[in-house]
Parts: sequence; structure tokens; C-alpha cells
Amino acid sequence: MTNMIPRVRKAIFPVGGLGTRFLPATKAMPKEMLPVVDKPLIQYAVEEAQAAGIEEFIFVTGRGKTAIEDHFDRSYELERTLAERGKQAELDAVNRWLPPPGSTAYTRQQEPLGLGHAVWCARDLVGNEPFAVLLADDLILAPKPCLAQMIEAYPEVRGNLIACMDVPKEHARRYGIVDPGRDDGKLIQVRGLVEKPPGDTAPSSIAVIGRYVLEPSVFEHLERGAKGAGGEIQLTDALAAQIGRSPFHGYRFEGKRFDCGDKVGFFEAQIAFALARDDIGAAVRSVLKNYI
Ligand code: G1P
Repeated sequence: MTNMIPRVRKAIFPVGGLGTRFLPATKAMPKEMLPVVDKPLIQYAVEEAQAAGIEEFIFVTGRGKTAIEDHFDRSYELERTLAERGKQAELDAVNRWLPPPGSTAYTRQQEPLGLGHAVWCARDLVGNEPFAVLLADDLILAPKPCLAQMIEAYPEVRGNLIACMDVPKEHARRYGIVDPGRDDGKLIQVRGLVEKPPGDTAPSSIAVIGRYVLEPSVFEHLERGAKGAGGEIQLTDALAAQIGRSPFHGYRFEGKRFDCGDKVGFFEAQIAFALARDDIGAAVRSVLKNYI
């Protein structure tokens, strides 16, 4: 029995952030509801989790985030009107992807104390089993969704598995950075992990991207509430404390990641996702030609 590989059934979506970089758009609307083309960022993340076999969706929200709960609920009046008008495609667009009843849970991060604290807020909803974390700001365009790639690799490595990407050295201070051991180009042994290393102290330019498959033991460290970079309770620090206790790997995923927490990254995502669409891709391409 000890060799049985536990299934990853639950995912945490930390969605409590204030979204100050997108004011005024985020004054009365959660930043996770900002659309890329016609779909909110948070829906991309939830669909990615569904594609990886996740069955329970745990949102760590905050004040002013109720639009997210509404988005993952039935919309009776809208659905009825669309049905009466025979608008099947639009009906599919509002409900085909809805998680089944009882599979979503919401808890609030009462204070913005950091990503580690947000994840810790979901500890009782996760319980004692491995779980995924998806940061909706990191939008990934890939032939196979990033979390599904990781879940496929997971039985081989187990323990903690974090998505990784090589970044320009001068950008290392924006990310969690891996101190790599063995690296076969895909799987990277994690020897150390540091959140937003200052100056040029980064141990590598391998950055952590917002997809994680984690052991529940990480909650034990988060429980202490120790503050790290930026005075926040960092998930990266709790993960660093796991090194040596269980297997720990980085996973260089296939696909292109867009930083949708940044205006330029968000804009680039609009272009890439629009161009990749069958319905509007060609039209967008011809419009873009007018600007370059
Ligand atoms: C968070 C994590 C960081 C990671 C990044 C990826 O930082 O703390 O380790 O590299 O997401 O997007 P944030 O962007 O929330 O500051």
C-alpha cells in the first residue's frame, strides 16, 4: 500500500489579491475576472485544473471578490433567456464548463499577508492529501495544459513538484528562484529555493511559475506564519523548508507563459490567445498588420 500513488484531486486558487496594478479596472471587479479575449483569467485556471483531473476547486478569496463565486454558479435568468432564444453556443459559453454542484469551496483570506498565508487558509479544505495550486495571473498557452503535464510526471517523482521556466538573469528578482541540482532539461532537482533574490544573488535563472503540486506537510511550516521577502508569508519559504524531507523537483513545462499580473504581459496574452483562436485569429492578424 505504501507504494500507492495518491491522486491529486484538489486545487487551491488564491484569488484574494487587490490587483492594484490594474486600477481603475479592478476598483469594483476582481482582477481574476479580467478577460483574455472573452474568458476571465480565473476560468482559464479552473479549466486547466479540470483538464488535469482536479475534482475539487478551492478558492481563497477576499473582500470584493463575489463576482468569482457568481461566475462559477448557474445563472438562471441568463440561461433561460438564451434557451428561449435558441442561442445554444452562448448557453454553452455560460455553463458547459461549470464545475459540478458541491465541487467548489470558498474561504476568505482576511488579511493580505502573502501567498503562503493564502494557501494556508485552505488547509482544512485540503486535509491530508497532495494538492495543486494555480495562480491565475500566470496564463499558459500550451498544446497540453501545464498542470496536466505536471500531473503526468508526478507518479515518477512524487513529493513536491513546481512549474519552472528559464528567465533572463536580470528578471530573477521578480520570481521564486531554484537552486538546481541534477537537471535533465525537463525535471530539475531542487536543492534550494529563494523568493525574489535581491540584486544578483540569484542561484540560477530558473524561475518558479504559478503551478504547484504539493505535499500537505507544507501546511506545517506555513502554520508558523514566518515572514519572508517583502514582509509577506511566502509559499516559497515554506517549500524551501521541505527540501530534504521529501522529493522536490522543478518541471520545465512546454508552452508559453504570460504574466497577466503585468500590463504588458496581459496585453501580449490578449494578442497570443486571439491569434490562436479559430474564430477570430485571421481577422486579428490582419488588423494587427495595420500597426506594425
Ligand atoms: C509568486 C510567487 C513566486 C513565483 C511567481 C510566479 O510571486 O511568490 O515565487 O515566481 O508567483 O508568477 P508574485 O508574482 O505573486 O509576486
